[in-house]
Amino acid sequence: MKIIRVHLKERSYCVCIGRGILKHLPGYLKSLKLPQELFIVTNSQIKHRFGFALKSCLKKGGFSSFFYSSIDSEKAKSITNAVKLVEVLADYARQKKTAVLAFGGGVVGDLSSFIASIYKRGVPLVQVPTTLLAQIDSSIGGKTAIDLAIAKNLVGTFYQPRLVFCELDFLATLDKRQLRAGMSEAVKYAIIKDEGLFRFLEENYRQLFFKDMPALTHLVYECARIKSRIVQLDEREERGLRTILNFGHTIGHAIEAAGNYLKYSHGEALALGMLAACRLSQRLGMLDSAAYERILNLIAKLGLPQEIIALKEKDVIDAYKLDKKFIGRTNRLVLIKGIGRPVVCENVPQEAIHKAIKELFVY
Ligand SMILES: NC(=O)c1ccc[n+]([C@@H]2O[C@H](COP(=O)([O-])OP(=O)(O)OC[C@H]3O[C@@H](n4cnc5c(N)ncnc54)[C@H](O)[C@@H]3O)[C@@H](O)[C@H]2O)c1
Ligand SMILES: [Zn+2]
Repeated sequence: MKIIRVHLKERSYCVCIGRGILKHLPGYLKSLKLPQELFIVTNSQIKHRFGFALKSCLKKGGFSSFFYSSIDSEKAKSITNAVKLVEVLADYARQKKTAVLAFGGGVVGDLSSFIASIYKRGVPLVQVPTTLLAQIDSSIGGKTAIDLAIAKNLVGTFYQPRLVFCELDFLATLDKRQLRAGMSEAVKYAIIKDEGLFRFLEENYRQLFFKDMPALTHLVYECARIKSRIVQLDEREERGLRTILNFGHTIGHAIEAAGNYLKYSHGEALALGMLAACRLSQRLGMLDSAAYERILNLIAKLGLPQEIIALKEKDVIDAYKLDKKFIGRTNRLVLIKGIGRPVVCENVPQEAIHKAIKELFVY
C-alpha cells in the first residue's frame, strides 16, 4: 500500500492507495479512534456492486454500518436531497456517536462531505472513493459541494476528511467514459505541474484503458501526490496557489452547464475547457504551437472531445458570462506557458476568451 500524508496541522490525514487494501480499512479507522457506528452514503449501483464487501469487512473489524443510497446523478447534490440526508443522519445518530463514510464517486463524495461538515457543526468524515476521478481528485482537499439551480457547486464548505482510502480494485468495473473522466483530470495535473506525468500518459494510455494495475497505481499515486501538495500550500484557496487546479474549468463549467450536465460529462467538458485555455495561451503569445499540438494529441488519444458538436455557441458563451457574474470578478483564468508552467492571469480580454470558445465549434 502507498501512503501520502496531507500535512494540514491538526487536520492532517493519510491518502492510502493500493490493490486489495480494503481489509486494512477497519484497522485505520480504529487507529484514528473513529466511532464504531458508520453512516455510509452511497448510491444503489455502488451498494449493489461493493456494499456487501465493505459491510462485511467493517463488521469483521468491529464496526457496524448503516447504508444510505442516494440517487445516481448530479441531481443528488441538491439542497433538497442534502436536507433529506441530514435528517436521516440525525435520526440514525440520535443516541450514538457516528462518522460519515462517503462511498462512491465525486457526487457521493461532495454530498456526504457537505452533510458531515454541517451536521452538529461537523462529524468525522472518511472518503472511500470508487471512481478514478474521485480517487485522484475530489476525495482529497476538503472541498464539499452541493448545487443550486443557477449553477453547480455554489454551496459548500471546506472540510477535510480524516482518511482517504483508495481501493484500486473498485476501478475494475468503471466503463471507458468514467475512466476518461478521471484521465481528463490527470491531464490537468500533468499540464499544470508535471511534464513527467504528461509523458507517462502519452506512453501508457492504452495500459490505463486496459486497467493495468501498475499503470493505474502510478497514475492515482502521482495525481493524489500533486493534489495533496497543492492543498497543503493553500488549503482554502486564499493564496492563489490552489487556483491552478481550476485550469480548464472556467470554460469547462460553461460547456457542462450549457449541455445541462447531460451532453458533456465533467471530464469531457474539462478536456474542451483545457483546449480553449491552451489556444488562448497560444494567442496571447505564451505557448508555442508544438506544446499545443502535443496537448491536443494526448486529448485525442484518450478519446476525449476536441471540438463541440452537441451545443450552440451562444449557449456556451451565455453560460460563461453567467458564471462570471456569480464569481463577481472581471475574470481570472489559468493559462500556461508550457507543460508544467501555469500562469494565473487576470483581466484577459473578453473577445479573446469568446474567440477561444468559438474555435471549439465545428461547422
Ligand atoms: N470536491 C472536489 O474537489 C471535486 C473535484 C472534482 C470533481 N468534483 C465533483 O465530482 C463529481 C463527478 O465525480 P465522478 O466523475 O466520480 O462522477 P459520479 O460520482 O457521478 O460517478 C460516475 C458514475 O460512476 C458510477 N460509479 C461509481 N463508482 C463506480 C465503480 N467502481 N464502478 C462502476 N461504476 C461506478 C456512479 O454510480 C456514477 O454513475 C461532480 O459533481 C464534480 O463537481 C468535486
Ligand atoms: Zn474537475
